[in-house]
Amino acid sequence: MSDGYGLLKGKKGIIFGALDERSIAWRIALACKREGADFVLSNAPVALRLGALDALGEETGAPIIACDVTKDDEIEDLMNQTKEHLGGVDFILHAIGMSPNVRKKKEYTDLNYNWLQQTLDISAISLHRVLHHAEKMDVLNDGGSIVALSYIGAQRIFSKYSDMNDAKALLESIARNYGSRLAPRGIRVNTVSQAPTKTSAGTGIKGFDGMYTFADMIAPMGNPSADECADYCVTLFSDLTRKVTMQNLFHDGGFVNSGISEEMINDLAKVYGDKDDE
Ligand SMILES: NC(=O)c1ccc[n+]([C@@H]2O[C@H](COP(=O)([O-])OP(=O)(O)OC[C@H]3O[C@@H](n4cnc5c(N)ncnc54)[C@H](O)[C@@H]3O)[C@@H](O)[C@H]2O)c1
Repeated sequence: MSDGYGLLKGKKGIIFGALDERSIAWRIALACKREGADFVLSNAPVALRLGALDALGEETGAPIIACDVTKDDEIEDLMNQTKEHLGGVDFILHAIGMSPNVRKKKEYTDLNYNWLQQTLDISAISLHRVLHHAEKMDVLNDGGSIVALSYIGAQRIFSKYSDMNDAKALLESIARNYGSRLAPRGIRVNTVSQAPTKTSAGTGIKGFDGMYTFADMIAPMGNPSADECADYCVTLFSDLTRKVTMQNLFHDGGFVNSGISEEMINDLAKVYGDKDDE
């Protein structure tokens, strides 16, 4: 890792979703620190009880604030505490996703609808809630930048991703809609659509290894790591991307625009045979 470029010097933020060292939010917090930012770390009370986040708090000097993002009073409390620690903030990272249907391996055609509500509430509507409270409580500074992490399941069908496909489509829509409302203040709202990444949420999906390998074989550059995602997010939080807003930005090594790779054609020919060889 480089020593950084000072891209976030003087910037303050809120980072949601770091659970353990593999979390994309964890890697983003380290990159933000490297670039000179100060921030608070937040996660659900149940995640904080696991205790891993304390180490990141110590390493980055960041206060840790518990907040279940489905609860308005907890978000208000988080905003109040953030103000006490930092004053206003220039960036927010939303790296939150959870589906009880995916966890319990429910097929898309057999969803538990109460769990579907939870999936949407935790993984998508929470972005709306966070922005609503941040704006109303005057926590967001003009010229700020919000990034939420998404996945290509919002546009394409990935069967094992079940109702998370729908949650990501809603998340990206909320980013666009809120982005248009915050644009007059120079505040950007974008989603970064990251390739499959070996984290707790990622590997909890049935068939994840197949999805990971498939994306890696198709993407001309291969799958980007969580640290590479972190570097990309730093640029979006920085002043170098001041007019990039209301976008879903693919960070996937070229996967989104690829059909099939030479490597995969050759591998499939080995398994199924190739007419040209007959
Ligand atoms: N891992 C992948 O393959 C991948 C690919 C594309 C996008 N993403 C997205 O990246 C984001 C971060 O996921 P990750 O892969 O780093 O996994 P992760 O498991 O490390 O992070 C998910 C986080 O969501 C938090 N969370 C769940 N319920 C919450 C609640 N009610 N309130 C507050 N926080 C809550 C968890 O505690 C956890 O920290 C998610 O939005 C995920 O969908 C992941």
